[in-house]
Amino acid sequence: ARIEKAGHKHFMAKEIAEQPTVISEALAYYLNADETGITLPDPGLDFSAFDRIVMVACGTAYYACFTAKYWFEQVARIPVEIDVASEFRYREPPVSARTLAIFVSQSGETADTLAALRYMSDKADTIVSVVNVAESSIARESDIALPILAGVEVGVASTKAFSCQLTVLALLALEAAHQRGEIDGDTLSKRLTELRSLPGLLTRALDLDETLNIISNTLSEAKDILFLGRGMMYPLALEGALKLKEISYIHAEGYASGELKHGPIALIDSHTPVIVFAPHDALFDKTVSNMQEVMARGGKVLLVSDRKGLEVASEGVWQTVQMPEVPDLFAPLLYAIPAQLIAYHTAVAKGTDVDQPRNLAKSVTVE
Ligand code: G6P
Repeated sequence: ARIEKAGHKHFMAKEIAEQPTVISEALAYYLNADETGITLPDPGLDFSAFDRIVMVACGTAYYACFTAKYWFEQVARIPVEIDVASEFRYREPPVSARTLAIFVSQSGETADTLAALRYMSDKADTIVSVVNVAESSIARESDIALPILAGVEVGVASTKAFSCQLTVLALLALEAAHQRGEIDGDTLSKRLTELRSLPGLLTRALDLDETLNIISNTLSEAKDILFLGRGMMYPLALEGALKLKEISYIHAEGYASGELKHGPIALIDSHTPVIVFAPHDALFDKTVSNMQEVMARGGKVLLVSDRKGLEVASEGVWQTVQMPEVPDLFAPLLYAIPAQLIAYHTAVAKGTDVDQPRNLAKSVTVE
């Protein structure tokens, strides 16, 4: 069937709005009927067989891997190496036999990712792919292909595929943690219940559309924009910056909040908006002190946080956006919404071709 915009101005807006639905569908696909465990497609995965995970992808899919690194390491206690496909294969990394290799690709046809997969095919113990297009080359050439079930994504800038990639990778990390005895059955089931609450939380975050639209009108006048985050919000800062530059053509950089003082703080002046993703979690105070360093230099901060965070850290901030509270582990899934909406509305304010940005292709099949 032909895919339509269903009342939205752009495919990207439609795809952003679809996220609560597609995430629910992905969860329903992988969760057991009683929702206390996870079922993987045949032949399944035995995580006790691996002592290391290597994750490889390009673009937005790479930032999904970056986020999942935190999950696999913190929850399942498995060391994870991540790389962009175009670097990974040419640096010819040594691979130990007990390696699980995971390739993440919306299209399943990205040439660099496919080449990296082929490099790993006779080296890794098992090759997993996380794909949106189930009949793709990357899916075909892997030992087990995990569909993300996002449905057709038309907008060149990936949105719903990103959140579905995160959903599947979160499930995989929880399954790994459970199999390896890092979490017991009760904890697994509690985490799954938390994940099941995500679609509802995303729906509430989508209500911030108009607020973010107004803020984005001002952002669209900027020449440079910085995105900051710590912990799992760091990869999201990178993704927020990528999204913004892809479609609004405004130069943007994502940085780890703590690394700001080692360079990018030199860029701060009153013309440079700084967007801070900071849920009120264990790292919050650290992020806030980095944010204050920005404000002390005249920087214009947009703080995206929750009620608790905004209560203590709003002073002197240019703009605040109040997010629903979310279980710490899954905050990247929720904070992806404001990252995407900021990019979208800023691009619309600039009048760019949101769904077909210049120089970019949905699927890059050349190396
Ligand atoms: C292109 C797209 C990006 C995408 C990347 C990886 O650059 O414009 O949105 O993230 O390819 O694509 P894949 O299909 O492998 O996820």
